[in-house]
Amino acid sequence: MPLVTSTEMFKKAYDGGYAIGAFNVNNMEIVQGITEACAEVNSPVILQVSKGARAYANHTYLVKLVEAAVIENPNIPIVLHLDHGPDFETCKSCIDGGFTSVMIDASGESFEENVRVTRQVVEYAHAHGVVVEAELGTLAGVEDDVKVKAEDSSYTRPEDVQEFVERTGCDSLAIAIGTSHGAYKFTPAQCTRNEKGILVPPPLRFDILEEVSRRLPGFPIVLHGSSSVPQDYVKMINENGGKMPDAVGIPEEQLRKAASMSVCKINIDSDLRLAMTGTIRKYFSEHPDHFDPRQYLKPARSNIKELVKHKLIDVLGSNDKI
Ligand code: G3H
Ligand code: 13P
Ligand code: ZN
Repeated sequence: MPLVTSTEMFKKAYDGGYAIGAFNVNNMEIVQGITEACAEVNSPVILQVSKGARAYANHTYLVKLVEAAVIENPNIPIVLHLDHGPDFETCKSCIDGGFTSVMIDASGESFEENVRVTRQVVEYAHAHGVVVEAELGTLAGVEDDVKVKAEDSSYTRPEDVQEFVERTGCDSLAIAIGTSHGAYKFTPAQCTRNEKGILVPPPLRFDILEEVSRRLPGFPIVLHGSSSVPQDYVKMINENGGKMPDAVGIPEEQLRKAASMSVCKINIDSDLRLAMTGTIRKYFSEHPDHFDPRQYLKPARSNIKELVKHKLIDVLGSNDKI
């Protein structure tokens, strides 16, 4: 089947109490690892491309890689989505260039400016059959060249969401309930330690999610910054020459709970980066004389695939939903 929008996917996910995984893609091995996992467990998927990914790999290469995945996996519904579109022009370029979904992220602007630019993107996107994700509230962490300090982040105000969705006409809404971007989501000072000495972050604000859902019944909510930072991969990195002390993510049970509520899209990027980096570091520790990229990218791709399968089945619940 050709690329699809997320409309049907989100409807089914909302009613079925699961979420669609949105994974960032930057190169061929990542596209292959994700889509092979989805094909094996019969899961729809969103492949998303950031401004940084477009700068790194080039728009055309990324679109063609995703189109190749569509051909190779004809049974899997695949959305091609712009992640964190910074302005109208970038969204327009992706809409004109084959994407089926875009995010306009004006969450750092005033409410009125966020409404204005989101509305502008929605009008253009809908006229071209493309859906739009918007954001209210500010996540902490690093995304592209924007770094938001924890003290400058802010939870979404449930009293704003209805007016925002009505005035903009957006198709889904990303909200801030305590997730954040990157592999260092919380400082050790923000966490407690469990009996094994592992850092446990503060729980997500499910009260805000519930209030948002009450005010927007049936409307798909999106969670960004939802990597769980698998400690096995952090350890693999640190044991093989890396230095990533105190990297902490969102516990998977909390994401599962969000998926069973109104959250229909969960964004995961850092976990795949950790899997790729850990695998490659370990490979070189064990094979210091190797230099063929195919040798070290093959196990990296395979571990991305296994990690994505785990997310689809145990976290998102989107397996066997085709
Ligand atoms: O939220 C941002 C995503 O993790 C993409 O990261 O901007 O480094 O491509 P990037
Ligand atoms: P993570 O850094 O938690 O993987 O978040 C990714 C994301 O939100 C992409 O938009
Ligand atoms: Zn994000």
